[in-house]
Amino acid sequence: MRNLIGIEDFSKEEIDELIEVSKDIMNNRAKYSEMCKGKILATLFFEPSTRTRLSFESAMLGLGGNVLGFSNANSSSTSKGESLADTITVVSGYSDIIAMRHPKDGAPLVASMKSKVPIINAGDGGHNHPTQTLLDLLTISKEKGHIDNLTVGMCGDLKYGRTVHSLVNALQMYENIKFVFISPNELKMPEYIKDTLESKNIEYLETNDLEESIPNLDVLYMTRIQRERFSDMSEYERLKDVYILDKAKLKNAKEDLSILHPLPRVNEISVDVDDDEKRAAYFRQAENGRYMRMAIILKLLKEESLKSNKKEENVAENNEAKCSNERCITMVERGIKYLVTKCSDGNVRCGYCENKI
Ligand code: NCD
Repeated sequence: MRNLIGIEDFSKEEIDELIEVSKDIMNNRAKYSEMCKGKILATLFFEPSTRTRLSFESAMLGLGGNVLGFSNANSSSTSKGESLADTITVVSGYSDIIAMRHPKDGAPLVASMKSKVPIINAGDGGHNHPTQTLLDLLTISKEKGHIDNLTVGMCGDLKYGRTVHSLVNALQMYENIKFVFISPNELKMPEYIKDTLESKNIEYLETNDLEESIPNLDVLYMTRIQRERFSDMSEYERLKDVYILDKAKLKNAKEDLSILHPLPRVNEISVDVDDDEKRAAYFRQAENGRYMRMAIILKLLKEESLKSNKKEENVAENNEAKCSNERCITMVERGIKYLVTKCSDGNVRCGYCENKI
């Protein structure tokens, strides 16, 4: 079965093809309008969402398919104590493809081991968000005309922000990308991501100064401080408004800077930036999600019978390898098998959440 658990499940060629298909869908909607006739997408959202869930549903409806699902864990049997594995076993008998969002890191990998149909990770805890990354790449490609040779700034909550984790993993497949990671010390990019960049000799800079960084950037990816992931609320209160991008801060920015944000925004981008029609790309980015998700659904349904999922191929069972990350799915799911991944940087990590074992 072909799943989308992490962005590494797709090769660069496949990602480029998804971008081209998305662009074709935008321009030729009628051609695609019946391609999923008779198929059912289940959207299982154990965590809040506006864009991701609705754009998935809009995507399936635009392909002539149907949708079912829940948007709140409290309205599912999870609230009665049902395991994720059982929920997925059952729902995969009611649907042809499943898009799921879950508060625990690694939950979609657990789901893919039980499911009879393709699983799409629509965000797992503070870990990954590969479909957001694909629409981010589509946006960069449309806004800038290319994805190679860019200096990309990522600003805000780089520790818990799952969108930036997947985006770094994807952008490192492209030529000559330089990263500037802008965050407070408490919310830096996780070591496991920086380790892979180092092992591939990819340039990155860490700073906490947004204003000083802006003039060098081709893309600025702003993120929300992820309130729901903090165990200490006083820390969240202290950090929540640490970066606010406004018109004045863009004074020395490149003319063709693209400002992205996965949304929802809280205070990170002041509304006066919205008037900067050319550079403020975040609402165009959200709309791109609909077309990219159509392309993803088409691809996974077409390749349902193929057996290849890099994320699954690289992991091995190891019952000694208990993970210590409190946000990992292994902390809550009953009867789970511990998995390890041997990474290119030589470290052994939890197969679900990538925490060092
Ligand atoms: C992001 C998410 O859920 O991770 N939102 C989205 O999917 N567009 C970003 C966020 O919630 O801050």
